[in-house]
Amino acid sequence: MTDSDRSAPALAVTAYGRPARFEVIERGVAAPGPGQAVLRIEAASLNPYDLTIASGANDPDGKRLPLVMALEGAGVVTAVGADAVDATGREVRVGDALFGSFGGAAAGLVTVPTAGLFRRPAEVDAGEAAGLLLVGTTAEHALETVVVREGDTVLVHGASGSVGSLAVQLAAQRGATVIATASVGHHERLRGSGAIPVIYGDGLVERVRELAPQGVTAAIDTVGTDEALETSVALLDDPERLVSIANFSGAVQEAGGRVIGSGPGADPGREIRAAARPRLVEARVAGAIHVPIARRFPLRAGADAYAFLADGHAGGKVIIEP
Ligand SMILES: NC(=O)c1ccc[n+]([C@@H]2O[C@H](COP(=O)([O-])OP(=O)(O)OC[C@H]3O[C@@H](n4cnc5c(N)ncnc54)[C@H](OP(=O)(O)O)[C@@H]3O)[C@@H](O)[C@H]2O)c1
Repeated sequence: MTDSDRSAPALAVTAYGRPARFEVIERGVAAPGPGQAVLRIEAASLNPYDLTIASGANDPDGKRLPLVMALEGAGVVTAVGADAVDATGREVRVGDALFGSFGGAAAGLVTVPTAGLFRRPAEVDAGEAAGLLLVGTTAEHALETVVVREGDTVLVHGASGSVGSLAVQLAAQRGATVIATASVGHHERLRGSGAIPVIYGDGLVERVRELAPQGVTAAIDTVGTDEALETSVALLDDPERLVSIANFSGAVQEAGGRVIGSGPGADPGREIRAAARPRLVEARVAGAIHVPIARRFPLRAGADAYAFLADGHAGGKVIIEP
């Protein structure tokens, strides 16, 4: 490592809360150990779960402060430890462009294990690569849970969001008809992904019935509202074909549906998600799917980036570019 690689700026939460206090700090960079590499980060992807972390819910004593944010990133290798290989087992070298999931991605430099990381070809934007895997695997897990296939009519709640957008694209590719709830400003993009957009809010059941008089055969809730649950139950013949990624109240299971992810009572689906990762990378490299980028912020505007995300209507990934 060169001297300039020994410390770097990083976006950290320095006081937990909603909103939390975010600051750019200067942080030492560890030399890479076996199976590790140092990445010069090109893009870090923010997720709503970051806001739970920044609230302090996972660290009641504040022992992890200052905590560098973001759980996914893309960057270029500047130093490599012994035996570092990527997710396909290929040797990692200085200059390789890699992306994937790792803590503290909102930083100029970060030392990470490489075994779960994928290679980014030049034609795939670093922000899209940084934002692909968490939302893509969640969308795939949702589709697998309710077994979406050709001939289905799938209702996706929150379809303009990061997970929703991927769920729409992947469901359409499986040959399903997709009805997509979103605010009107996002309808054009959803039409472009092959979905039939519809505004959420009062009267949603009737609006969806007009589009699908026979009802829907599967429903994916990425929002977690009572409306998403009640609408799905009203329109589905089989409540087992409802899956939520955002309603952890127990009400979805009581209604006969399923909940996935890392919340209470949810199916983590580790194997399904692990199997989906290489397929998603392949699909993105082939241009078969796209990750919508809502906005890119420089590291110094990290607090603004999190405020934009917290607003809940970004319409795609929020990216930090150090
Ligand atoms: N369980 C898991 O494994 C897992 C994994 C990833 C994320 N999540 C959770 O899933 C949720 C979505 O994540 P994300 O990354 O897709 O978030 P996101 O990109 O911020 O998208 C949120 C979307 O929700 C829509 N929305 C907001 N209020 C709504 C309402 N009242 N009714 C219907 N739609 C509404 C917005 O659409 P408009 O802007 O068009 O209004 C927005 O596009 C978050 O709660 C996140 O924590 C869970």
